[in-house]
Amino acid sequence: MPTTSWYHKTSIYQIYPRSYDDSNGDGIGDIQGIIKKLDYVKRLGFETIWCSPFFASPQADFGYDISNYTDIAPEYGALGDALQLIEEVHKRGLRIVFDMVMNHTSMEHPWFKESRSSRDNPKADWYLWRDPLPSPFRRGAGDEVPNNWQSMTGGSGWHYAKERNQYYWASFLPFQPDLNYRNPEVKKTMLDTVRFWLRNGVDGFRLDIFNVIFKDAEFRDNPFSFRFIPTETDPSAFFQEAKYTINLPESYEFAKELRSVCDEFGERLLLGEVNGGRTAIRKFMGAEENDGLTLVFDFEMMNFKFAADYFRELIQNIETHFPAPFMPVYVFSNHDRARSIQRLGNDVRKAKLLHLLQLTVRGVPCMYYGEEIGMTNLKLPFAAALDPIPHKFKFVPRFVFDLLGLTINRDEVRTPMQWNASKNAGFSSADKTWLPVSSNYDVVNVESEDKDENSLLNTIRALLKIRSEHAALQDGSLELMDGLPDKVLGYRRKAGEEEIGVLLNFGQSAKQFQFRSASCIFRLSEQDDWKNGEIRLAGLGGIILKQ
Ligand code: NOJ
Repeated sequence: MPTTSWYHKTSIYQIYPRSYDDSNGDGIGDIQGIIKKLDYVKRLGFETIWCSPFFASPQADFGYDISNYTDIAPEYGALGDALQLIEEVHKRGLRIVFDMVMNHTSMEHPWFKESRSSRDNPKADWYLWRDPLPSPFRRGAGDEVPNNWQSMTGGSGWHYAKERNQYYWASFLPFQPDLNYRNPEVKKTMLDTVRFWLRNGVDGFRLDIFNVIFKDAEFRDNPFSFRFIPTETDPSAFFQEAKYTINLPESYEFAKELRSVCDEFGERLLLGEVNGGRTAIRKFMGAEENDGLTLVFDFEMMNFKFAADYFRELIQNIETHFPAPFMPVYVFSNHDRARSIQRLGNDVRKAKLLHLLQLTVRGVPCMYYGEEIGMTNLKLPFAAALDPIPHKFKFVPRFVFDLLGLTINRDEVRTPMQWNASKNAGFSSADKTWLPVSSNYDVVNVESEDKDENSLLNTIRALLKIRSEHAALQDGSLELMDGLPDKVLGYRRKAGEEEIGVLLNFGQSAKQFQFRSASCIFRLSEQDDWKNGEIRLAGLGGIILKQ
């Protein structure tokens, strides 16, 4: 069955508002800054923009701690700016999705303040409150937390509030209390929030840690697990299986309910942040039909190996889990993870090949701002981090995280966008920007890459254009090619009469082989060539052919 909805064919560009463009010179990016840069995004060729949150927030987790879902944090602008952003995006024929943090609010949200004030106020049951564990059941001295549940960031997720002599649950950090979705009033209020933005024209939402929305109704202890660090396929961590805290059947059901609310407004995108592997992802999208979340990030691939065999297996596995009309999401970077080029030893040639794959394989590509110019991680001292996460782990030496390949200080991947070689990389006129600008901005920036025909930026632009011109690359079928030389990956995309072949050489040495095709529509470098049925791929070369 063909996939025909716009959101299955689109390409997504993630903007982290705080770091994109500062229009008023306070060192912090803002909504008017984003509006100023919409023509850049349009010319680049992405069709949908996802903005990380700019709602009212004390910014303890930079917007992922919301204190009012229908207002905007003053450093980013006002409600009118957000509405103008939606309008300006649509004027350019683009779409926009906002970041909806449904699982938790900020502890500064008036709902939580009211809820914690007593055991019998009107919002007393809006969050997850439990009594301290009675003494005969305690595991040790002073251990009175209601059960053994660990938060996603480690340590008990239960936090004491003396006003009620009770604990509240927070899946992430202590200042982000989880809402109680078993309370119909909470559910209705949050779905009405979603409706508010849909009515105002937003094209959908990226859904923050959507797979922890529901927790066990009986608050049963999680079973023991040998796992300490979670993986993308197994969210169990800190020596417990996340059986009663993550990926509950009620959350899969809620995905459908949310989808039906969105359907009231036509075709709207719902892009889930879910961990737990492809089987879990599929449950959020819908077991039989794609009647749940329309798209879900595939985070497993963030730990990619730069090798043809790795990608062959990945694509095969993805095709098995997400046959049409399901559509996978190919994503290699975001505001929480290392920049993709870091995994490639900051090698731009490898980055070009990676994005050739990302923009031609069957799936929605999602690119993080700056990835298009090869922005790198900026190493910053943990002690001075603005991100709350490294402070939680301040007793662990940095090299441990480096060895494990974990980005604990997320400031390092959120540095200001590098527009040009002028002051602050053209991001801001302020004396001090909220995070330092990376030192390589004199070379890695939009303006200079724009002028260089062979830059990563122009490669991505060319690929997005080809993608937009060929239905086969948007929602065509995919078939892996066999019998190719070692380290070469190839696949065919087909839609109706159109057939496109993509060949990528992950090796460093050139490869020459026979290949029947009618014309060549893209070459990664001048050394890549196709003539009289023979292909020559340079080391790290790539080519797109049309039948
Ligand atoms: C996932 C978001 O991507 C991350 O930035 C945030 O800190 C947590 N969820 C908590 O909302």
